Amino acid sequence: MAGELPPSFRKMPAQRRREVLLQLYPQSDTEPTQDLDWADRLVENAFGWRPLPLGLVPDFPVNGKTYHLPLATEEPSVIAAASFSGRMLARHGGIRAEATPAILRGQLFLEGADFGRWPEVRVRIQDLAAEGLVSMSRRGGGLRKVEGEQLANGLTLLTFWVDVCDAQGANVVNTLLEGLVPKTEELLGGKRLMAILSNNSPERLGRAEFSIPIEHLARSGFSGPEMARRLCLASEAAQLSTDRAVTHNKGIMNGVTALALATGNDTRALEAAVHAYAARNGGYQPLSRYRSENGQLIGMLEMPLPLATVGGGTRSLPQSGLIWDILGITRATELMEVAAALGLAQNFAALMALCAEGIQSGHMKLHQRRLTGDEKP
Ligand code: MEV
Repeated sequence: MAGELPPSFRKMPAQRRREVLLQLYPQSDTEPTQDLDWADRLVENAFGWRPLPLGLVPDFPVNGKTYHLPLATEEPSVIAAASFSGRMLARHGGIRAEATPAILRGQLFLEGADFGRWPEVRVRIQDLAAEGLVSMSRRGGGLRKVEGEQLANGLTLLTFWVDVCDAQGANVVNTLLEGLVPKTEELLGGKRLMAILSNNSPERLGRAEFSIPIEHLARSGFSGPEMARRLCLASEAAQLSTDRAVTHNKGIMNGVTALALATGNDTRALEAAVHAYAARNGGYQPLSRYRSENGQLIGMLEMPLPLATVGGGTRSLPQSGLIWDILGITRATELMEVAAALGLAQNFAALMALCAEGIQSGHMKLHQRRLTGDEKP
């Protein structure tokens, strides 16, 4: 369970909030620093850091647990919106979420191979790939499937599905593929064109769902049933208008990308996977849907979430020790569940504002605060 925050947390000066968090989650001295030398070890031609504000969504309810979510974002309304939905949904059973195993695909392209040999060499290649993943298997992951096909331009494509456990998996899969090249060339003939993971992640999914009694949706002079009707119409609008679906999904990513940034995850891999998934059936579709049933509004979301809890930037960026301690998550699948729930909550808050008073009066008040330096609305 997340540490208990004082009820006045939101009203405290930022410095005091930080002190409260550091008392709740005391840091070890191994915390990466924001020194230039450290930046120089991480990237080429380093000359500084580019920090983003880090804020907290407190007591966010997922699967019967509460989480404090550290988000890195420059957009003023994001944390306020997720906190609003989190508070509201906590009173109605919270958000239920689940995640698939963290499957990453790898692709090996061969030029001039004899694809006719594939049926007889398939098991051999599969065994070689499984051997290359023994340490991943010991952690509960490893090879899940191998398939071969001949592409229209004559290239042979071998695809490997790997459960990468808590890692993002890029290093594991790219190393595997490159290790397989010599033997694969020998078995199938031909030469490697390229060997690289695929960021398409339709098997690495998070799902989230909530239900809330319709009468609790009343807002800005609209009754609960009227708000439910408007939210369902807005959900349909995103299915019928690509322009709307893109904005709808951007609102979901406001939260999910902010969590990915805070946890040092690869936001480009995440965004590429998400938008490919939204377009998987040809047209670009919203990642969440809403419907009314038996007096409840039901919100649902499904999206790929290639997120890691180890490796890459997850532990090497400044503040990462504190961020992971606050989150209290060690398994990637749990991070996926929380991220899916956050995406849905973010979307719900945006739709509530859009379909009630409109975005400018609530959401944009916060932007104004940034520009004018005014106190909290
Ligand atoms: C703004 O960052 C996000 C929204 O545009 C999302 C949406 O329209 O659903 C408010």
